Amino acid sequence: MLKLTDVHTYYGHFHALKGISLEVGDGEIVSLLGGNACGKSTTMKSILGMVKAKQGTIEYDGRQISGLPPSDVVRAGISPVLERRRLFPELTVEENLTMGAYLRSDKAAIKADAEKMAELFPIVAERRKQLAGSLSGGEQQMVAMARALMASPRLLIMDEPSMGLSPKYVETVFEVIQDVNAKEGVAMLLVEQNANMALSIAARGYVLQTGEIVLSGSADELLNNPQMQKAYLGVA
Ligand SMILES: Nc1ncnc2c1ncn2[C@@H]1O[C@H](COP(=O)(O)OP(=O)(O)OP(=O)(O)O)[C@@H](O)[C@H]1O
Ligand SMILES: [Mg+2]
Repeated sequence: MLKLTDVHTYYGHFHALKGISLEVGDGEIVSLLGGNACGKSTTMKSILGMVKAKQGTIEYDGRQISGLPPSDVVRAGISPVLERRRLFPELTVEENLTMGAYLRSDKAAIKADAEKMAELFPIVAERRKQLAGSLSGGEQQMVAMARALMASPRLLIMDEPSMGLSPKYVETVFEVIQDVNAKEGVAMLLVEQNANMALSIAARGYVLQTGEIVLSGSADELLNNPQMQKAYLGVA
């Protein structure tokens, strides 16, 4: 469904992505792993058209999407949950969800989706009228996911959904990701530093290091890879 081939991205002269190739299949959960500053967010921003890939191709459903503005990428069916959630803090939970659907005009379907979100994310129903900025970090993560799903995407790209959350809430967030994938069939590209958690729900993963993919494989292969265990999984 999503296919990156030899993608190079620069910030000025800085070569941030040095030939990234990766794929996400229909309905699949794939994780993109790696430590700080290796290019995870840049990969996500390149897919979304927030930064422009200088070389290589980004295809979605067989169609070239690199070079498209972010709104067209969202229209094509890819919705982001950006780093640090980025909710509208002065808007209520309900209003944030409405904003997630701003590119859609199918009113009845939007209403039905809002009701579905209230079922998938109890916090959305309970805190409908609360200002998003006053929610806890974990609660905001739930609302950010619900808002992204209001775009009715077939692929959700999430940048470090576990960041800054307590271990218990991290588990909840990953359970919900799995649940949404199973119930709605939405494919997920999960950008994470928490490799253990990400690989516990992903089918496959890619490991980035200074702008290059150094390792890839099924979740089991990566979990059992000694190099991976030493560098990213905290196994002695
Ligand atoms: N707007 C920018 N201008 C210049 N350099 C940037 C810009 N954004 C990112 N970079 C650089 O590109 C490299 C990759 O950054 P990126 O944000 O993609 O890393 P990351 O893997 O998401 O890291 P983290 O886990 O800390 O979020 C870093 O060295 C960063 O300093
Ligand atoms: Mg990042």
